[in-house]
Amino acid sequence: MEKKNIDWSNLGFGYISTEKRYVSDYKNGAWDEGVLTEDATVTLSECAGVLQYAQTVFEGLKAYTTEDGHIVVFRPDLNASRLADSAKRLEMPVVPEEKFLDAVTQVVKANAAYVPPYGTGATLYIRPYIFGTNAVIGVKPASEYQFRVFATPVGPYFKGGAKPLTLCVSDFDRAAPHGTGHIKAGLNYAMSLHAIVTAHANGYDENMYLDSATRTKVEETGGANFLFVTKDNKIVTPHSDTILPSITRRSLMYVAQHYLGLEVEEREVYFDEVKDFAECGLCGTAAVISPVGKIVNHGEEICFPSGMEKMGPTTQKLYDTLTGIQMGRIEAPEGWIRVVE
Ligand code: PLP
Ligand code: COI
Repeated sequence: MEKKNIDWSNLGFGYISTEKRYVSDYKNGAWDEGVLTEDATVTLSECAGVLQYAQTVFEGLKAYTTEDGHIVVFRPDLNASRLADSAKRLEMPVVPEEKFLDAVTQVVKANAAYVPPYGTGATLYIRPYIFGTNAVIGVKPASEYQFRVFATPVGPYFKGGAKPLTLCVSDFDRAAPHGTGHIKAGLNYAMSLHAIVTAHANGYDENMYLDSATRTKVEETGGANFLFVTKDNKIVTPHSDTILPSITRRSLMYVAQHYLGLEVEEREVYFDEVKDFAECGLCGTAAVISPVGKIVNHGEEICFPSGMEKMGPTTQKLYDTLTGIQMGRIEAPEGWIRVVE
């Protein structure tokens, strides 16, 4: 299979339409078989549930070319179960795990020419999503849905790749107690847009959100969980019921403990403690693990000892081990890697 003529090493995190995507419709209480299509557009009722009341949930995962030339997907079973959790919370039908995995596999195989070659630093980002399609004008769940999966080759999420980021503590909240912060619903991202545009306009790369109930505890950013490294090399990550349970963060905690022999702690993290950490990183499928050099809270700066030039040493080890597992250079824990071809 011949790869597309793309400048893989200079890709940013943007959308490039690939050849095929998967579509399945839900009607009369059941999903249809699902097909691959070349049509990248969606035609909907003007009154569709997704358009009126934002009834949509999604996932993000990646396919990688390994050192020995296979195409693999990282822990897609966890994306399937998180999509199911998201769907249930918004009163949408669940896509069974087998159907989800089959759709992802079909899309990756059909777009193999777009899976970036090993060593380019780029990957194939896969976006599964479900949305309400029939007309709803009273506030209620739709009765018909579409499940789609497309793929697009991507480079680093943050411009500058591994260069440490500067964050600001947001004055806006991301998620309410007992709300939808723990699921991957489009509505969480819609409400973060004003906050991210504001952060960018003020010269910051991202927002650090605090818990909206007390505004004393660290939550996450608009698209990634936090990992901190203590001065005695322990890994600490915030526990909260209102953040997305990141698959990358859960994987990194496992890697820290079982591959690097580090102590790990998932617990509430107070903003007041942040100044005492040695390193800070943002972890997610898109972000992988992106180092944070500085956090600014209303003019007050916290500068991590790891500095603004490169990743801190422990963050670097976590990054190297996780990406080593994803690219097949390091043996993966049982069940983490699904070989597509
Ligand atoms: N938090 C938010 C709000 C996200 O959008 C994402 C991205 O998926 C993450 C965390 C990271 O999750 P994952 O590692 O499963 O991609
Ligand atoms: C992902 O990492 O998959 C996400 O969905 C984050 C998004 C901000 C691109």
